[in-house]
Amino acid sequence: MATVLTIRGGVPLTGQVSVRGAKNLVPKAMVAALLGSDASVLRNVPEIKDVDVVTSLLRLHGVEVVKEPQTGDLRLDPTKVKTAQMKDIDAHAGDSRIPILFCGPLIHAIGEAFIPDLGGCKIGDRPIDYHLEVLRQFGAVVEKREGGISISAPKGLKGAKLSLPYPSVGATEQVLLTATRAEGITELSGAAIEPEIMDLIAVLQKMGAIITVQTDRVIRIEGVRDLTGFKHRALPDRNEAASWASAALVTQGDIYVAGARQGDLTAFLNTYRKVGGSFDIDDNGIRFYHTGRKLSPLVLETDVHPGFMTDWQQPLVVGLTQAQGVSIVHETVYENRFGFTEALVRMGANIQLHRECLGSVPCRFGQRNFLHSAVISGATQLKGAEIHIPDLRGGFSHLIAALAATGSSRVTGIEIINRGYEHFQSKLEALGADFDVH
Ligand code: EPZ
Repeated sequence: MATVLTIRGGVPLTGQVSVRGAKNLVPKAMVAALLGSDASVLRNVPEIKDVDVVTSLLRLHGVEVVKEPQTGDLRLDPTKVKTAQMKDIDAHAGDSRIPILFCGPLIHAIGEAFIPDLGGCKIGDRPIDYHLEVLRQFGAVVEKREGGISISAPKGLKGAKLSLPYPSVGATEQVLLTATRAEGITELSGAAIEPEIMDLIAVLQKMGAIITVQTDRVIRIEGVRDLTGFKHRALPDRNEAASWASAALVTQGDIYVAGARQGDLTAFLNTYRKVGGSFDIDDNGIRFYHTGRKLSPLVLETDVHPGFMTDWQQPLVVGLTQAQGVSIVHETVYENRFGFTEALVRMGANIQLHRECLGSVPCRFGQRNFLHSAVISGATQLKGAEIHIPDLRGGFSHLIAALAATGSSRVTGIEIINRGYEHFQSKLEALGADFDVH
């Protein structure tokens, strides 16, 4: 039977939580271990579903994944990598988007890859055309099969001059994981440069890769024949940190996020301050708190790094329902990331969605039929409601809305939150949230 969370709102969240390794780096560093000729060790690994999915896929391919019981560190040994049974891989169809990143490393290791149909949050169409196009340019042959795609490279993978139409995080990682052991030089322009990508580059450099990040989103990779294992501590999860920061704002609380790092959150911190949230930074984390004064509305556009990240948008929108006046948010990364506002409106928020680009720069979604701009008028008192969680960040946003609301909310679909938020229920408990789980 599905788990139901009953939340009684109105309690300011107060206390401390810790964030560990980033969901958007850890599974990819695990995939990178496939490229090594010996074992790797990954530290600061959170207990989240995406890590479980990748662990299971690696094991199916013969990689030994051992979790150190005390620390949770992962030891990944790829020396017995092998072709997996298609039906076993297929069982993971729809679980995550990470399997697409197995392509390059598996071709280098065993000459072929079968990738199941992908999962991940339903926040837009989320195509994989950039991934397949760059793989073809490396010399891979891509065939659509029932339940997934099959990829091989009969003539080997060769470095190429590549250009992405949009700085996609996943496609940039695809290029990095494929090019490091491809023959010759790869030059990628239009690359994404998120901190998680820089951390993946750090992992690959430890393994022996030669990667240069140049100006203007150009990354140059000199292929090497062999890589070793790595020892690496994953960078902290800045998206989880920003989520707890928004929770403090929305519930008029005060949360110290141990592990949060200022350098990864610059754009978020500027916005948080403009809305009226406050923060104190020390060497071990960041304290985020509501000052007790009214919050201010703002005009905001999501963007690729170093802009305001799309994953911060959903929790912050809940904060903007509590600001005095009209805010405008233009989502330029995903065409469909405002679906979660439907529940907020039912809870009493005043939010209108628009197809136009309500921002300073027209984006790729402007002349199309996507509700990708939001106008939020506040402040509104939120009321408890029945909520079914639609996606990871939207779901967390619903939780914090329910925690700030008057009355109680009945929330289903909370399993999705476990995909990216480690032990979120015990963290909520530690912060004083009033809820039951049945
Ligand atoms: C990563 O997704 C993250 N996921 C997302 O976090 C994050 O929102 C996103 O990067 C942007 O920062 C992981 O790292 C697992 P993209 P990814 O390729 O790599 C379009 C979260 O909540 N595109 O940068 O899949 C795409 O549709 C998740 O933690 C194509 O058109 O994102 C989107 O509009 C959600 N074709 C844009 O590019 C392609 O082949 C950016 O996507 C690939 C992408």
